[in-house]
Amino acid sequence: MGDTGASETGMPRRLSSRLSSLAASPMKIIDSLLGPAGADVIRLHAGEPSLPPPLELVDSLVDDLRRPESYAYAPTRGLPELREAVAEELKRDGTSVSFDEVAITPSGTSAIFSAMSVLLDPGDEVILVDPTFMIYRPVIEYLGGRVRWVRASPERGFQPDPDAVAAAINDRTKAIVLVDPDNPTGRLLDPDIGRAIAELAQDRGVYLMVDEAYRRIVYEGSYRSVQPYAPDSVIGLGTFSKDPGVPGLRLGYIYGPKDFIDAYASFNGHAFFGASNMSQLYVLRYLRWEGREKFIESVVAEYRRRRDAAVKAMRRYVPSARFTEPRASMYLYADLSPLVNDAESFASRLASKYRVTVMPGTAFGPANRTFIRVTFVSQPPERLEEGIRRIGEALGEAGQ
Ligand SMILES: Cc1ncc(COP(=O)(O)O)c(C=O)c1O
Repeated sequence: MGDTGASETGMPRRLSSRLSSLAASPMKIIDSLLGPAGADVIRLHAGEPSLPPPLELVDSLVDDLRRPESYAYAPTRGLPELREAVAEELKRDGTSVSFDEVAITPSGTSAIFSAMSVLLDPGDEVILVDPTFMIYRPVIEYLGGRVRWVRASPERGFQPDPDAVAAAINDRTKAIVLVDPDNPTGRLLDPDIGRAIAELAQDRGVYLMVDEAYRRIVYEGSYRSVQPYAPDSVIGLGTFSKDPGVPGLRLGYIYGPKDFIDAYASFNGHAFFGASNMSQLYVLRYLRWEGREKFIESVVAEYRRRRDAAVKAMRRYVPSARFTEPRASMYLYADLSPLVNDAESFASRLASKYRVTVMPGTAFGPANRTFIRVTFVSQPPERLEEGIRRIGEALGEAGQ
């Protein structure tokens, strides 16, 4: 990979060979199939919230826009007031970190890239749960690391097995990654399993990275942090793309032991410098906003309604699909075997012929060739139902 043709002097121009680990993402394939916007496409593939963020806060943002300091560079680790507010906010899940163990990041995605950059030397290993959020494998491999997969099977409700995680640790292991609440499965981690894996990480001297992007998008139960069980080992990261639902503002956070956060800040100072001041001001106002809990309640209630609609439509129109009802996050993860044995070609056919987009399971790990991920928050219930009806139609299912 990387030869972009000859330059004027006849020497080939070359890009990094590392790019091969980022080979075509399923998201790109889906976008390329769709062509120009406007056709009647039901988009169920992206993890985008569709409800507006709190509009009350927009007026205050307009005030911020009038202040010259809004246009200045923000500190590399983020605005001190926002770091304080995040440390305070995290207490709700049981996480106990101080202001200097938190940094604000220009998105959750950049936090993942920066954290892995800080951790990995070529040849180092990271344990990923199969299935997991699709960004992790490519980033680890791009940085010269290796992925060791540990399967979380649907039969166990996609809960990882601490014994299997323990067996996967060796002297090249730098970190274990858990996504909780989970993307793509909607699973909320069993607290005993979370604790066992945190204690394992602490005992074996590896980092445990917990991606809590969906910590407030929970329908049954609640998210509990494992950080108190392994405060020297847990690195937590999150995003403001899901709560308050502002993915375009590109803002996230990371927390962890002080020496890790110092290393993170040093890397970030070279790679990204810092996050947008304006985005930070918006989120700071949001975290301090007295209407926040009511707002979250109303969003979660609407998402729950859509989750229920998706589950019902799946049972009706795709009766052979096997899935666990999602308890959190934004996705329903369904096994379509034996009707589907190549989720990528099924997703392509679904997009081009039936105008519905879903993510093929292959994006999330090696053992997912028969799975699809359906985002249930991004469309109102009627459109969601129609999209799932078309999935059943594409499969030739008898449901009606
Ligand atoms: C589990 C998980 N982590 C991190 C992110 C990254 O969020 P962002 O880059 O929008 O802040 C996402 C986005 O979908 C996600 O699902």
